[in-house]
Amino acid sequence: MKRVAILISGGGSNMVALAESMTGDHPARPVLVASNDPVAGGLAKAASMGIPTAAVDHRPFKGDRAAFEAELLRPILAAEPDILCLAGFMRVLTPDFVGRFSGRMLNIHPSLLPKYPGLHTHQRALDSGDSEAGCTVHEVTPALDDGPILGQARVPVLPGDTAAMLAARVLVQEHRLYPAVLRRYAAGDRTPVRL
Ligand code: GAR
Repeated sequence: MKRVAILISGGGSNMVALAESMTGDHPARPVLVASNDPVAGGLAKAASMGIPTAAVDHRPFKGDRAAFEAELLRPILAAEPDILCLAGFMRVLTPDFVGRFSGRMLNIHPSLLPKYPGLHTHQRALDSGDSEAGCTVHEVTPALDDGPILGQARVPVLPGDTAAMLAARVLVQEHRLYPAVLRRYAAGDRTPVRL
């Protein structure tokens, strides 16, 4: 059985989708949900699901990423994860941290990468006049929102869409895509998932 730690910064809806998927014959189980925000809504949700939680506030470190990550690593290493899933984790990780989990860290990003790495993905898709949008799960490498693509899900952009409307439509697909990719990945299969 693979052990999965999930890093979040916010509401944690992707974390919940992942955690709920890891039952029965699934080859993995959640062992930790950690956040850089002590009041992230997802922490309470994880606790209510019986998953151990940890919070390391990044703000006192005042931009010293290495010092922040050293603290964040403590609960993560203690949980002995085989796989690390970033699920709405909004801190950029150093190459050093990424290197520790090379080949076993996943991220979900709300665009059809390689389009729109970084922030404001939905507004950028609208501004470009794209006819479709979506989300990507990829393996994490030191470059931001880069790395081998493990799955993508597409949605249409509809007339009158706002960024919020598009984000909501994409999020529904994130909740399908990420569990589908994790199940495959935990079983050792890196064939991309297409939804
Ligand atoms: C999700 O849409 C995720 O793709 C995005 O943040 C949201 C988190 O929602 N991630 C990024 O933008 C990463 N740069 P959640 O906390 O409800 O899962």
